[in-house]
Amino acid sequence: ALVTTKEMFQKAYEGGYAIGAFNVNNMEIIQGITEAAKEENAPVILQVSAGARKYAKHNYLVKLVEAAVLETDLPIALHLDHGEDFEICKACIDGGFTSVMIDGSKHSFEDNIALTKKVVDYAHERGVVVEGELGQLAGIEDDVNVSEEDASFTKPEEVEEFVARTGVDSLAIAIGTSHGAFKFKPGQKPELRFDILEEIQRRLPNFPIVLHGASSVSQEYVNIIAQNGGKLDDAIGIPEDMLRKAASMAVCKINIDSDLRLAFTAGVREHLMNNPAHFDPRQYLTQGREYIKALVKHKIVNVLGCSGA
Ligand code: G3H
Ligand code: 13P
Ligand code: ZN
Ligand code: NA
Repeated sequence: ALVTTKEMFQKAYEGGYAIGAFNVNNMEIIQGITEAAKEENAPVILQVSAGARKYAKHNYLVKLVEAAVLETDLPIALHLDHGEDFEICKACIDGGFTSVMIDGSKHSFEDNIALTKKVVDYAHERGVVVEGELGQLAGIEDDVNVSEEDASFTKPEEVEEFVARTGVDSLAIAIGTSHGAFKFKPGQKPELRFDILEEIQRRLPNFPIVLHGASSVSQEYVNIIAQNGGKLDDAIGIPEDMLRKAASMAVCKINIDSDLRLAFTAGVREHLMNNPAHFDPRQYLTQGREYIKALVKHKIVNVLGCSGA
């Protein structure tokens, strides 16, 4: 059935692993992820951004995810990624999602608390769980280029008050990850602030922490894309050993979007280069879907640690 993340996170916290939260926006992506989760017998979170909702439309995504539940019989949570206001959270809560994120991290501490609490009150009355965020991720997002200097890591001294006053069910934090496929400059050494994570988990015992911007940007896919007509200079992600370490700690949800995009694009590009006469979308989308499935299996076994969970 479609489930909330409540039980998933509790088991993940105790078991020292994390659940994968994968961004979805079409049928093949949903199928690739859930087929992998099924074969690994792993719980999974499928998340939808405002952009995905605009692209595919709310009802298509909800019905596709419900279809994945019917096909796999897995516990799947349907989550709104980066909800920016009360209205989009309400639309998703009313429209079948089991979890929403209200991302008030760009607001002041007090405004973030007020907005997050409003969403929590509405959601909890309807059995839906809420993820909040404190701190700002660095990274290149569209036209805004937040440098690492401007990025503000989560302040551990704020987390207890935020969680107590809002009632959120999980908290996204900023400890050095960033969104997109270009997380670090060439030559820059990827680093995560595990000292901040440790201090947060000390202050919030047993409370699930979320890591955004957690794609690894494997060179395997970057190279396949480059060898088949694409060009992605200096794409760099978070090393897998750092993610494994975070998953062994209070981090119970690891967000992955860019890696799915890279795997899908690598599969489609390779297929079309090797089969110039193919023009049936089922042929090249099959390879995109297979690449997503292989990627997600790898994440479940080698990064998240949630196989058989
Ligand atoms: O955190 C952002 C996710 O990768 C979603 O990206 O807004 O382009 O759908 P998007
Ligand atoms: P990546 O861009 O690293 O995949 O992060 C995705 C994310 O955080 C979605 O909320
Ligand atoms: Zn994110
Ligand atoms: Na964990």
